[in-house]
Amino acid sequence: MAAGRALAALLVALLAASAQLLQREASFTISPRTADNITVMIKLRPGVSPSCQIRVKNVIRSELKIKPGENVTFTFTCSTPEKHFVMEIQKNIDCVSGPCPFGDVHLYPLGLPRLNRTFIWDVKASTKAGLELKFSAPWLRQIEPGEMCPDFVSYNINSCIDMATVNIGTFCRNGSVSRVKLLGGVVMSLHLPWDSPLTTSGFNIANRASIKRLCIIESILKGESSITLMSPNYPLGFPEDELMTWQFVVPSNMRASVFFHNYSLSNCERKEERVEYYIPGSLSNPEVFKLSDSQPANIAGSFNLSLQGCDQDAQNPGILRLLFQVVVQHPQIDENVTHLVDLSKEWNMTVTIHFEGWPRHIPLMSEPICLICKDPRTCDRVLTLVSGAVYEISFLCKDLSHLRITAEKGISCVDLRWCQRKIYSLSVPKAITQLPIRLHKFIWKLLAPDLVNIEITSPSLKLQQHVPEQRCNTSYSYSIASATPETELNVGIFCPGGSIEKIQMRNNITISLKTFSKGFLNESNHQDLKMSFVPHIKDECTFTVSPDPKAKVYLQTPNWPYGLPPYVSISWYILVPSKQVARLGFSKDRMGIACETGRAYVNIKEETLGAEETVCREDELLPEPRNMYHNFWVNVSNCKPVDKTQLTLQFWVTFADKQIDLGVILAVVAGAGVLAAIGLTVCCVKKKRKKNQNPMVGVYNPNVNTQVPGKQGLFTKGRKNNESHVYAVIDDAMVYGHLLKESNGSVAPEVDVYRPFDGPIGSVPPSPPPLYFRKDVKRSSNAEEPPPLTDTDHDTYTFAHQKSGQSEDNGDTNEKNNGDMSVSLLENKEQDGLVE
Ligand SMILES: *[C@@H]1O[C@H](CO)[C@@H](O)[C@H](O)[C@H]1NC(C)=O
Ligand SMILES: *[C@@H]1O[C@H](CO)[C@@H](O)[C@H](O)[C@H]1NC(C)=O
Ligand SMILES: *[C@@H]1O[C@H](CO)[C@@H](O)[C@H](O)[C@H]1NC(C)=O
Ligand SMILES: *[C@@H]1O[C@H](CO)[C@@H](O)[C@H](O)[C@H]1NC(C)=O
Ligand SMILES: *[C@@H]1O[C@H](CO)[C@@H](O)[C@H](O)[C@H]1NC(C)=O
Ligand SMILES: *[C@@H]1O[C@H](CO)[C@@H](O)[C@H](O)[C@H]1NC(C)=O
Ligand SMILES: *[C@@H]1O[C@H](CO)[C@@H](O)[C@H](O)[C@H]1NC(C)=O
Ligand SMILES: *[C@@H]1O[C@H](CO)[C@@H](O)[C@H](O)[C@H]1NC(C)=O
Ligand SMILES: *[C@@H]1O[C@H](CO)[C@@H](O)[C@H](O)[C@H]1NC(C)=O
Ligand SMILES: *[C@@H]1O[C@H](CO)[C@@H](O)[C@H](O)[C@H]1NC(C)=O
Ligand SMILES: *[C@@H]1O[C@H](CO)[C@@H](O)[C@H](O)[C@H]1NC(C)=O
Ligand SMILES: *[C@@H]1O[C@H](CO)[C@@H](O)[C@H](O)[C@H]1NC(C)=O
Repeated sequence: MAAGRALAALLVALLAASAQLLQREASFTISPRTADNITVMIKLRPGVSPSCQIRVKNVIRSELKIKPGENVTFTFTCSTPEKHFVMEIQKNIDCVSGPCPFGDVHLYPLGLPRLNRTFIWDVKASTKAGLELKFSAPWLRQIEPGEMCPDFVSYNINSCIDMATVNIGTFCRNGSVSRVKLLGGVVMSLHLPWDSPLTTSGFNIANRASIKRLCIIESILKGESSITLMSPNYPLGFPEDELMTWQFVVPSNMRASVFFHNYSLSNCERKEERVEYYIPGSLSNPEVFKLSDSQPANIAGSFNLSLQGCDQDAQNPGILRLLFQVVVQHPQIDENVTHLVDLSKEWNMTVTIHFEGWPRHIPLMSEPICLICKDPRTCDRVLTLVSGAVYEISFLCKDLSHLRITAEKGISCVDLRWCQRKIYSLSVPKAITQLPIRLHKFIWKLLAPDLVNIEITSPSLKLQQHVPEQRCNTSYSYSIASATPETELNVGIFCPGGSIEKIQMRNNITISLKTFSKGFLNESNHQDLKMSFVPHIKDECTFTVSPDPKAKVYLQTPNWPYGLPPYVSISWYILVPSKQVARLGFSKDRMGIACETGRAYVNIKEETLGAEETVCREDELLPEPRNMYHNFWVNVSNCKPVDKTQLTLQFWVTFADKQIDLGVILAVVAGAGVLAAIGLTVCCVKKKRKKNQNPMVGVYNPNVNTQVPGKQGLFTKGRKNNESHVYAVIDDAMVYGHLLKESNGSVAPEVDVYRPFDGPIGSVPPSPPPLYFRKDVKRSSNAEEPPPLTDTDHDTYTFAHQKSGQSEDNGDTNEKNNGDMSVSLLENKEQDGLVE
């Protein structure tokens, strides 16, 4: 028992000691004077569990209210009360029944615990009198609702007229708002975090004559600076039929510009919502603007701006609100330099001058701005000029390199009879290129009715398609897209200096010229893009390509890399100079798609009488690199692929001199076997198309006889991929076969080792491969026996050749011969069941 009593006594002593300790650490006495009319309220932060309490004379409580004249001493039961409690110190100032205690406002009473606290000054005053809140430097900056001040110190100003409260705004320290004048009562609050070192309120209150409006907010803008302000209650509505004014004090040697960033209008029943400016030197003060107008810019010195509301529709008042920015800058050196932009002869064109990144990126309010002026005081960050007028523009900008031009021109055809044979030049007008502003984009919108199509030509410069293997490096490029109401097809990116002479497209076309460097200024002197409306074409796009014989040309299907849309067909017509032979190769060996509906085909055909057509279906290998002696077509038609497979095709064309190639060909005479090898690896059907056949329908017959007369058995070996349908070898054999037949009447080709070209397609064209000839072998007709093969580098390429000189025929008759030959062989084939 004694031990128990001793323990209890010890506990009591310990408790007493700890209580004393707490008391000594955090004991507060608050005794607001009656005359100050200050009430202090300490309460738990909303939503916090009451794990900390207030102890007043051993009474534990969770909140405390100390009224004027009371004297309360208290402690907290925890050592971090700032985590649990907040404090409100409200001072009522009654200017209605007694004298107003104006002057500096103090943060009384002293000795308050360090808690987040809100000082509230509730001033009751007559609506006939004006009150002025004057802030000491560094003044205030208005913030949007929800925004936080960096030091968590914020002021909130509410105006009380009659029973209504209007939130004039929330402000942080450190800005340019120096005074706020109000009518009638005001509730001013100052929020301080518990650890704020602030000991003064930073403002005083003074009595002023009536201001005859809701409020006046004064800003003093000293150097280059910017300020953002909002209408009272923002983003809610400005009170009905109210008036307020912002005064801006600006040094007379500085220029101010006003930008309305965000506003909405209410539904006015009577009067109009508007803003009015008093601008120094203006002869028409006040200058009245709609909120939707471009607001005045380049104002020299101090000015004021008033916002006037209207009588609103009681049923549907709407919201009048305004968020705006005032930017103060030094006068710009070029402010008096005007540029003439003559768009009087242009048609259906808009030219927009804007800052870099517009309209996606809105520059931070703090960034230096560039203004574009239509006249000395109508300036904006974005200026749009329209065709048919002449403008004199100037720039208020330190660095014009931040500005860009985007222009758009519409060309439409209503009736082909009117627009056919008319050639429209798609070039950027001089009025634009001569401006000291970089052209960002020039967009031509070409609109045609259904059944009228569009042809783009670049007769002298010709276009290059931008492909990974051959990137455009010019100072500008054209992005071409065709659009129906349902789909958009990105035809590709093209730049001058290539081989595409002409593109014909269905649908409406958008061509965007984009510039990449200042070099465009020079290159713009010889732009060469023309457009005309043409009668209906069959394919989605047809390219006419006339390559430079020295170049390797890469071409790829539109919508790269996402793939051709389903059922779309594209064709390329490649011109082969008469003394040249073209080599055509695909960058991959398969189309790489599986069809869900329909079939996809690649058709290749030389534009010569009786030429064979090569038809590859999507499940077949694409042709190996091959030689083309005449102008030829490469046509691609898509099926509806199964999900996730998309048709993308790329091919290349190179040229070689017929003479040189002939030497090579003649040199590469070697052993037998080529035909067999070709038969195994070439997969496409070669056929002579019947006249009535749909050009986009390929031919497929899995039961085709894969044997060539006289070379039986060779075709059964060596298929790399069992799944691949290698069914059309006879047709390839025919190509070679006719040569053989021509030479000695029997199908017994001389063949060389075959290895497919499977190396990467690099930027350097491969050395010219040996070729076989149908037409041009004649030139070497003198050579009864070709020289033996001396160049072993070439034996990695596929070729077949005629053992002996071909004939004395000229090209024309030979073409005919070829045609005849293939006709007969093909017909045999078709009788064998080649056509499905
Ligand atoms: C408040 O009360 C304490 C004692 O409880 C006393 O020391 C102090 O002087 C009083 N303060 C005022 C202003 O009355
Ligand atoms: C005190 O103010 C700071 C800053 O505004 C805030 O993060 C904190 O939660 C506040 N504490 C309480 C108890 O309200
Ligand atoms: C204190 O404020 C209240 C409320 O505004 C007012 O009724 C009262 O007269 C004021 N007292 C003094 C002494 O100013
Ligand atoms: C006031 O604002 C300016 C610019 O906004 C800033 O550079 C300065 O540090 C700020 N001063 C204080 C005391 O916050
Ligand atoms: C303008 O108002 C809209 C809608 O209230 C808001 O989403 C947007 O952030 C505002 N812009 C600025 C600059 O305050
Ligand atoms: C606005 O400025 C004009 C001219 O300086 C001045 O006469 C007028 O009183 C000002 N209005 C307000 C409300 O500041
Ligand atoms: C621009 O012209 C006005 C009026 O003639 C003049 O006051 C101003 O100084 C000029 N600005 C510059 C930068 O020369
Ligand atoms: C002008 O261009 C627009 C597209 O930019 C187009 O819709 C309109 O039809 C064109 N008008 C004429 C007359 O070409
Ligand atoms: C651009 O590329 C072409 C070949 O595609 C090349 O001949 C030319 O020198 C390049 N020009 C520049 C400026 O890189
Ligand atoms: C092209 O635009 C014109 C005008 O907007 C429209 O009437 C026509 O149907 C469009 N053509 C296609 C193929 O979308
Ligand atoms: C434009 O051409 C001129 C002369 O023709 C040349 O001096 C200048 O360097 C060129 N500028 C660019 C950006 O290529
Ligand atoms: C390719 O398409 C063009 C244009 O539609 C057509 O004239 C040509 O006959 C087609 N060629 C082949 C081989 O399908």
